[in-house]
Amino acid sequence: MDPYKYRPDIVHGALVHIMYSRIRMAGLVQAVFIRTDEGILIKVDPRTRIPESLDELFCDMLSTKAKGNCGKLLQVVKNPVIQYLPVNCLKIGLSSSSKKVVEPRDYLKTFSNDVNLVFVIGAMAHGKIDNENIDELISG
Ligand SMILES: C[S@@+](CC[C@H](N)C(=O)[O-])C[C@H]1O[C@@H](n2cnc3c(N)ncnc32)[C@H](O)[C@@H]1O
Repeated sequence: MDPYKYRPDIVHGALVHIMYSRIRMAGLVQAVFIRTDEGILIKVDPRTRIPESLDELFCDMLSTKAKGNCGKLLQVVKNPVIQYLPVNCLKIGLSSSSKKVVEPRDYLKTFSNDVNLVFVIGAMAHGKIDNENIDELISG
């Protein structure tokens, strides 16, 4: 596949970072969604153990995708993703092209605990995430 468009290594790296992060360990990550270029939406339960190798991760996904359901922890779900997000959430997109440059730790401190934050990260080598459904675009 064209590495210009498909970067499973970025998806894998992002999942490893999220699942082993302190906020995930503290139970503060409610869900992770992956959307492929073809629009397939996969919901990843925060309790999922992400395999160390990329091959293992995508083998698991492919074998379960064939059944239409990736089991309890990894699940192909219907679009649009917005229907799964909490009503009072703030959707924050990340892009190096944003003029709003923040220091992530300080930025997060500006929110009260009752706000649900949704982060949209591009898992591609080039291009920019869709601005659709994003309330704010930040650069770190
Ligand atoms: C290789 S970059 C895509 C290229 C593009 N320069 C961009 O950031 O929009 C893949 C993803 O990494 C994230 N990213 C990369 N650099 C970033 C930065 N300085 N600030 C925030 N997010 C960044 C964005 O979510 C981006 O979609």
